[in-house]
Amino acid sequence: MGNCCRKPSKCANASSSLFLDGTSKHIKKPKNSTSSSLKAVVNESSLLPSKIDLTSASTLKSFTFNDLKTAAKNFRSETYLGEGGFGCVFKGWIDKNTFAPTKPGTGIVVAIKKLKPESFQGHKEWLAEITYLSHLHHENLVRLIGYCLESGNRLLVYEYMPRGSLENHLFKRGVQTISWSTRINIAIGVARGLAFLHGYEMQIIYRDLKASNVLLDSDLNAKLSDFGLARDGPTGDDTHVSTRVVGTQGYAAPEYISTGHLTVKSDVYSFGVVLLELITGQQVVDEEGAPEKTLVDWARPFLSNKRRMLRIMDTRLEGQYSRKGAQAVASLVLQCLNADPKNRPNMRDVLSTLEELSASTKEKRDTQQQPKQGHHPSL
Ligand SMILES: Nc1ncnc2c1ncn2[C@@H]1O[C@H](COP(=O)(O)OP(=O)(O)OP(=O)(O)O)[C@@H](O)[C@H]1O
Ligand SMILES: [Mg+2]
Repeated sequence: MGNCCRKPSKCANASSSLFLDGTSKHIKKPKNSTSSSLKAVVNESSLLPSKIDLTSASTLKSFTFNDLKTAAKNFRSETYLGEGGFGCVFKGWIDKNTFAPTKPGTGIVVAIKKLKPESFQGHKEWLAEITYLSHLHHENLVRLIGYCLESGNRLLVYEYMPRGSLENHLFKRGVQTISWSTRINIAIGVARGLAFLHGYEMQIIYRDLKASNVLLDSDLNAKLSDFGLARDGPTGDDTHVSTRVVGTQGYAAPEYISTGHLTVKSDVYSFGVVLLELITGQQVVDEEGAPEKTLVDWARPFLSNKRRMLRIMDTRLEGQYSRKGAQAVASLVLQCLNADPKNRPNMRDVLSTLEELSASTKEKRDTQQQPKQGHHPSL
């Protein structure tokens, strides 16, 4: 059995979803019927194990515990991938057609998240994850392959993301630096994932955007993972959903923390924080927990000044970005971090700004690489 407690306890603070406030504020009014299966599962009253509704998970494979144990080599330490607030993640191997466990190195690789069996906390998130990910399919969302619910064991089986989390790439010592163009590409992937969720038929608020929830495939393309805290957006005349405050310190929007009012603009704020981490190479809060001043407080005065902002750029990126490009991203970060959610851009606009930036960078690079035709008038 893998060691679920190998991370020092302080890491649970830094990486896990923190319940910032225990007060439960209930949803304003019952939602309409368009996404009834989602509601049946996410609804607070359906959280007792006896009321589990997995009908929406029919597109997923239901695994036995033994199969997953075999696939992950008894959850031994060599298959351990990481740990979050709800449990450990292991690497496993399954047959691509039958999904039966296979020998390591054969079949397809999967990531198996094993929820801490002793805690009832996490069950609601486990259900929300299944419900959302069985409906949502997009190139920038991690694919959920299946689940297991067996005598107190709750597991989730995902596509394996070979390059791990953005958090590891940006902040772990000894990991190769990711280039400026890759960082912009990662930001585009995250923005595309969020724009998809926000534009979905009943609008979905992701609520847990942070560097550790952005996973990278073999080409460093970004996918969002962990939908346990996701929530349906407001419907009808409602401007927000009122909810218990959950999320991760440093990434959660200030108005959401103070009022419990949740909108898609809360995700836009968290996106601004991740974008700030991408350009500075610094973590919003370190593993010790909340410092007196977060990265956002520290960076804000620099971001609003075109010259001074260059001083907070990740020094490992030297020479890879144009002054204009860096300033455009800094301005986008500031807009996303606006104290008034109404003044934050929506994710579609964020996405097109980043795509334009990426296209102009590529164009410039291509022009620079072309032979100077002026020197060869005959050509
Ligand atoms: N599909 C996956 N493929 C590869 N590695 C993964 C996958 N899912 C998770 N991991 C690894 O496991 C680590 C822990 O993930 P997990 O989602 O449990 O925790 P977290 O994101 O750090 O915190 P939280 O519990 O708040 O989400 C990740 O940081 C990543 O390194
Ligand atoms: Mg996670």
